[in-house]
Amino acid sequence: MQSLQEKLAAYEAEIRGFKPADATELEAFRIRFLGTKGIVKALFGDMKHVPAEQRKQAGQMLNSFKELAESCFETQAAQVQNEQTPNGAASDDSSLPGPLLPNGTRHPLRVVENRIVSIFERMGFSEATGPEIEDDWHNFNSLNMPADHPARDMQDTFYLSQNPDWMLRTHTSSVQARILEKGTLPVRVICPGRVYRNETISARAHCFFHQCEGLYVDEGVSFADLKQTLYYFVTEMFGAETKVRFRPSYFPFTEPSAEMDISCTVCGGKGCSLCKQTGWVEILGCGMVHPNMLRNFNLDPERYTGFAFGMGVERITQIKFRVNDLRLYSQNDLRFLKQFEAL
Ligand code: PHE
Repeated sequence: MQSLQEKLAAYEAEIRGFKPADATELEAFRIRFLGTKGIVKALFGDMKHVPAEQRKQAGQMLNSFKELAESCFETQAAQVQNEQTPNGAASDDSSLPGPLLPNGTRHPLRVVENRIVSIFERMGFSEATGPEIEDDWHNFNSLNMPADHPARDMQDTFYLSQNPDWMLRTHTSSVQARILEKGTLPVRVICPGRVYRNETISARAHCFFHQCEGLYVDEGVSFADLKQTLYYFVTEMFGAETKVRFRPSYFPFTEPSAEMDISCTVCGGKGCSLCKQTGWVEILGCGMVHPNMLRNFNLDPERYTGFAFGMGVERITQIKFRVNDLRLYSQNDLRFLKQFEAL
């Protein structure tokens, strides 16, 4: 009896002094005293060795010891819980700051899209969006790409099986067509959106991606306006030291057409893996709106001119944030997405 009393006294001192630093220590305490192989269970097990005449007293001592261990565990558990959620249910002090809920993060593509749109908005462009399922007229025909035009092969198209006049838009130029159709000039729009092309999915190609295309039509719009607008965009997006260059290219809806490169933002032009040792990276296609396209919308090409451009949001994001595999954007892997938390 004496020894049981001594044993309990030592344990009681330990229990009364127990202050867990966190939930792990609390759980260790529970396992040590109250677990199925814990001290309380073991002491009750020892009861069979206690002489019959002392058993009643020993039982009472053990019961109150067990209650002490349980109530200590409960008090400390409430405390730990309270520390984790400062004004959680356990606290009635309404002046405490609210619990910090984990923040969601913007998708990197959305971050970059927002930046692109806002740069153009500062130059007087307004944002315009349109449907992802398009008809042939808005996606191709009106943009100077009639059915037999070889340039249609540049964009591998998903047609709707019920009616091949309908398709998933292959570019957001379709939105520009819808804006021109309204017939109010001047037009100065930036069109962000998701587009679809029938490509095998790999690190460098995907069956859907995102574009921002712009269009400016008015009297007296020149190629110089195009260059200055895009140059301003580049300096805002990539920094004032970035250089641009234009290379002649071909698009059915623009004439002349060009592709624009920027000096490599990683190596500054010396040559690296991003610019494939050339010092330049291509970022967009552009050109002066083709007269046929203006005529398609009843605009007189002798009076009105315009420029258009189109860029891939994934491409800009790749250059800005060094994302080298297109598939990462749609895998929803939190380890990837969390890296953009601060943006
Ligand atoms: N629509 C073109 C594409 O998707 C991009 C572009 C737009 C090029 C406007 C020139 C002018 O590839």
